[in-house]
Amino acid sequence: MKLEGNNISFAYKKDSPILNNISISVPDDKVIGLIGDSGSGKSTLCKILSGYIPRYEGTVTIDNNPIDSKDYNPVQLIFQHPEKTMNPKWKMENILEESWVPSKELRDTFGISDGWLKRWPNELSGGELQRFSILRSLHPKTRFIIADEISTMLDTVTQVQIWDVLLNYAKKNNIGILAVSHDKSLLEVVSDEIFYFNELNKK
Ligand SMILES: Nc1ncnc2c1ncn2[C@@H]1O[C@H](COP(=O)(O)OP(=O)(O)OP(=O)(O)O)[C@@H](O)[C@H]1O
Ligand SMILES: [Mg+2]
Repeated sequence: MKLEGNNISFAYKKDSPILNNISISVPDDKVIGLIGDSGSGKSTLCKILSGYIPRYEGTVTIDNNPIDSKDYNPVQLIFQHPEKTMNPKWKMENILEESWVPSKELRDTFGISDGWLKRWPNELSGGELQRFSILRSLHPKTRFIIADEISTMLDTVTQVQIWDVLLNYAKKNNIGILAVSHDKSLLEVVSDEIFYFNELNKK
């Protein structure tokens, strides 16, 4: 399987284009790294690929087919700030299980303690919350993960642990990953291939 963005152009405001005819391809057995300057449009591209921005020029396809917005989206976006995507009035187990119900074994693999399930989001650290948001995105129907700066706020040890379990899971389950980061050394470790945003985004 292959996720493709083809000739994507986008502007939040008319006359100030952010994305100019970008094409990018993510196979389901690879991690594609994407590096670029702050404000250049990486998160915008991530949102288009994962269906958060519905109107744009160009196409997003899986194996040349458009993605049906009525079904579960096989392209899941993981954000930099997990707390922004969680309802503060829900306990962690509801936040996780709203998407799917992973086994205890899988929760353990992702380093999620049983005790955290009964807590509110504001009772966990950023790294602890990010484990939930990653596991939540790995619903059995997920085929591609768009990882937008998912470990930027974590210390190096936690960053390595989280990427390690994510990469293992993705490899076992044929999930392709687009890994977006400012951190070139991280991308060199996790990616099979790295693209430079400015080179894709030709004006
Ligand atoms: N909802 C929005 N409305 C208008 N402009 C926006 C919106 N979101 C982002 N922008 C602008 O679009 C440009 C690209 O933003 P984007 O978040 O895609 O950049 P980025 O490459 O992800 O940056 P960073 O590396 O800092 O995360 C920026 O100039 C930003 O100010
Ligand atoms: Mg961004």
